[in-house]
Amino acid sequence: MIISIAADHGGFSLKQHLVAFLERHGHELLDRGCSSEDSVDYPDYALLVVRDILAGHADFGVLVCGTGIGMSIAANRHAGIRAALVHRDEYAKLAREHNDANIICLGGRFFSPTEAERMVTTFLSTPFGGGRHERRIKKLDAC
Ligand code: RB5
Repeated sequence: MIISIAADHGGFSLKQHLVAFLERHGHELLDRGCSSEDSVDYPDYALLVVRDILAGHADFGVLVCGTGIGMSIAANRHAGIRAALVHRDEYAKLAREHNDANIICLGGRFFSPTEAERMVTTFLSTPFGGGRHERRIKKLDAC
């Protein structure tokens, strides 16, 4: 899969870990930054991943900031984006099954690399459930 990934300074360390992890597992990574722990603004980086998804350059996105909250708010302002703020493995699964989420948002200050690996792996490997969920997804961008 092609994965677009970005972080702000609060998510930089976890993002670096996830880039290496996902590449080891055969994914192609579009690493959109940031490139250090110097302070940056999360909306700038969310937008880079949003653009990759909407342009069809990536299959899924991963966004990491301190909490994941700012990234999820920023990404979800764009029609066609369903960014899920995930705190546990079951959320990652349901975000895909029920919400057809195309971006996973994580809090770099709250999860270990191993926890994040598990949530991202579940997210990327769980198919959308379709059916009644399809009808609801369509309503998201109808307003
Ligand atoms: C940066 O300090 C922090 O506000 C940011 O990483 C994120 O948690 C915002 O939602």
